[in-house]
Amino acid sequence: MIEIIEKQPAVDDFLRLRVVAGLSPRSREAAERGLPHSLYAVTAVSADKTVGMGRVIGDGGCNYEIVDIAVDPDYQGKGIGRQIMQSIMDFIHRDAPAGSFVSLIADEPAFYQKFGFQEAASGSAAMYMKL
Ligand SMILES: CC(C)(COP(=O)(O)OP(=O)(O)OC[C@H]1O[C@@H](n2cnc3c(N)ncnc32)[C@H](O)[C@@H]1OP(=O)(O)O)[C@@H](O)C(=O)NCCC(=O)NCCS
Repeated sequence: MIEIIEKQPAVDDFLRLRVVAGLSPRSREAAERGLPHSLYAVTAVSADKTVGMGRVIGDGGCNYEIVDIAVDPDYQGKGIGRQIMQSIMDFIHRDAPAGSFVSLIADEPAFYQKFGFQEAASGSAAMYMKL
């Protein structure tokens, strides 16, 4: 049975899940500093093992960003990603004031379209700098 728990993942689980799900690695220092500043986070747990996660970061008013959505490949395709995103969307709908901007960078756009996200207008592009 999978349990979706409203708490941030432990640092070790966060670092492992990003890598096994194929996301770029983060340093331990970055995780230790960043995770406590989450606006909201969920972990998916199966028999005491953390198998999925998702976070929301931002200023809690104007801007919300959805990050670190990852499900262990051994557990993908079982509805866990959908439950993680549903918890996140429930949080955003109860927390965010009207007019807030909710964004994410999608490796899998079709997954996020199911939750109402649309691609940025043509001519605008997601931009980033990796340090
Ligand atoms: C994307 C990811 C979080 C989905 O998690 P999951 O537990 O496998 O997804 P679910 O089983 O809950 O599927 C939810 C829905 O999304 C769809 N879906 C899942 N993965 C998808 C993908 N890669 N592309 C398009 N649709 C996808 C499923 O078909 C399902 O649709 P349905 O409910 O209408 O049948 C997971 O595959 C993952 O961790 N991928 C690698 C990391 C990644 O890309 N993270 C996102 C970074 S932007």
